[in-house]
Amino acid sequence: MPDSAAPDVLRTARLRLDPLAPADLAAVHAIYADPVTWRHLPAGRHTTLAQTERMLDESEQSWSASGLGRWAIRLRAPVPGVGLAAGALIGVASATLTDCGARNVGYRLTPASWGVGLATEAATAVLAVAQTSDYPVTARALASNPASVRVLERIGLTRVWSGRGLPGATIAPVSGDAGATPAPGHPDSTALERVIFADRPLAPELLAAIIRLG
Ligand SMILES: CC(C)(COP(=O)(O)OP(=O)(O)OC[C@H]1O[C@@H](n2cnc3c(N)ncnc32)[C@H](O)[C@@H]1OP(=O)(O)O)[C@@H](O)C(=O)NCCC(=O)NCCS
Repeated sequence: MPDSAAPDVLRTARLRLDPLAPADLAAVHAIYADPVTWRHLPAGRHTTLAQTERMLDESEQSWSASGLGRWAIRLRAPVPGVGLAAGALIGVASATLTDCGARNVGYRLTPASWGVGLATEAATAVLAVAQTSDYPVTARALASNPASVRVLERIGLTRVWSGRGLPGATIAPVSGDAGATPAPGHPDSTALERVIFADRPLAPELLAAIIRLG
């Protein structure tokens, strides 16, 4: 049951964001297969079209289960300094619902569009709509990715945790404890320095669950 009455299509001064659709597959895959967009986490790169298809499916499930998911970001008009045409799909932004009951804000843009504030612009719109739903809004970034950390600061989220590993990592994981391993299907980033942001203080159990997402 959707929890949000927010419109699905978002418009900003320079961008239009539409719910990710099957027709976006090739353009989205090109961005997710580009090693430059995975410089900070090479293991996350999509090496098969099936991985991107799965991401589109997950987005659709998130839209129908929680009222929000992922959007394709397109230029409304040419942007000075960005050599891409009006209508070009430049990236993906998300406000998917995690299993632990928090929105996860994320973004990945084609390198040709970097450096002119477009991620901040898209993420600002996504945060606003995510905050119309009932869930805490969170975001995760690698500390080695200062541009992403900066975007999260610029949109007004607060740093609530930083560190490496999983909560209780000094204790041997209990067999069958799903929380002791990163979420299936996601690259393991738990050995890397990570930063978690949120739009409000998080209950300790929720924060621990988000840390476990890696
Ligand atoms: C992270 C990413 C979305 C940023 O996109 P972008 O459109 O260039 O971002 P913006 O221009 O809106 O803002 C970037 C901010 O980071 C700053 N920045 C960029 N590189 C930086 C660096 N090396 N050190 C410190 N700050 C940096 C910019 O100055 C800008 O801040 P400002 O507006 O205060 O000047 C883009 O680089 C990307 O898609 N990267 C690959 C995917 C990714 O890392 N996604 C996030 C995963 S958590």
